[in-house]
Amino acid sequence: MSATKGLEGIVATTSSISSIVDGVLTYRGIDIDDLAENATFEEVIYLLWFGKLPSQSELEKLQSDLNASSAVPAEVIDQLKLYPKGANSMAALRTAVSSLALYDEEANDMSPEANVRKAIKLQAQVPAIVAAFSRIRQGLEPLASKGYPSIAANFLYQMTGKEPDKIAIEAMDKALVLHADHELNASTFAARVTVATLTDIYSGITSAIGTLKGPLHGGANEAVMAMLEEIGTFDNIVPYINGKLERKDKIMGFGHRVYKNGDPRAKHLQKMSQELGKITGNMSWYDMSIKVEELVTGQKGLKPNVDFYSASVYTSLEIPRDLFTPIFAISRTSGWTAHILEQYENNRLIRPRAEYTGPVNQKYIPISQR
Ligand code: ACO
Repeated sequence: MSATKGLEGIVATTSSISSIVDGVLTYRGIDIDDLAENATFEEVIYLLWFGKLPSQSELEKLQSDLNASSAVPAEVIDQLKLYPKGANSMAALRTAVSSLALYDEEANDMSPEANVRKAIKLQAQVPAIVAAFSRIRQGLEPLASKGYPSIAANFLYQMTGKEPDKIAIEAMDKALVLHADHELNASTFAARVTVATLTDIYSGITSAIGTLKGPLHGGANEAVMAMLEEIGTFDNIVPYINGKLERKDKIMGFGHRVYKNGDPRAKHLQKMSQELGKITGNMSWYDMSIKVEELVTGQKGLKPNVDFYSASVYTSLEIPRDLFTPIFAISRTSGWTAHILEQYENNRLIRPRAEYTGPVNQKYIPISQR
């Protein structure tokens, strides 16, 4: 029995939700490029959960169900107010989502209908929690959803208290489409492992959020922005990146376990980053990103992943850096819940083996003789 480090290349489940074949990402067989150009996030949620694009009436029903389920229990909002000032935003989200289960009478109802209802609640309430956390720490009261037919629009409103403009809604919606699902990534695997014990959907999403938080996964988008801010000026890019490469430091937002010839989502985010830079009149983050890419790709052959240009996109939308990963979680809740529903449908406990490398033939030594 020999282990494969990081389970690289191991096929651990079957799934009909999303696929990566020859560098092409599809949701339910539809190319991400097609979805990024044409679909709304709500259409993608429906597609991921139910396996087909919704009709107009199915879409409207989903939009209305999401709005009807978007109120976060008052107890959870009260808890958010008690979190330490300066709490890590992903830790806050993980804790709040875990506590949602305490206030949902259906939390342990494992019927497929109840699980779909819980998926809707989670998809509606995760953005509301992120927005509430953002406001509470600024000393502001959380806002109820405005009931827009769009998670992107409601989230921007609930975060800022302002009517979001069309460009911001479109950019946020596209970012949500691009991050929605990604085959058996680390957080989705964590969600599937968790619910394969037949525990509840809230436990699965809590595991997933904790997993996404890490800088090798969703946490990379914040780390990219931290890096760009640390670089500071265009002139500092070359010495900074060369220094990192010489020290063999990882450059956040580059490389991928599955894509070796580039992440198909990155080009959409790059384009958005450029367009938003033009609109805001501040091209500096985009220009710096392009230069960093030129150096890292040129010297290491590493291509940007989904997290690289999302950093400058969210910055152009005036979103605080530490909300980038929570926004990733808002989007990926759709994929996590789709995978959880799929896991429940055809479940088997996920319990791999470990290759033992410790000592053998040891004896218990009484404490007095140690
Ligand atoms: N910067 C510098 N070198 C890198 C980078 C990077 N970002 N990524 C990979 N490498 C190098 C490694 O040092 C290693 O070199 P070596 O063979 O000389 O030791 C080689 O490329 C292979 O890298 P691994 O880390 O073994 O690749 P793995 O498949 O385990 O990791 C990962 C993939 C975690 C994404 C990695 O590329 C990385 O750490 N990237 C930076 C973090 C990041 O952007 N994460 C977001 C990923 S996308 C997502 O989760 C949404």
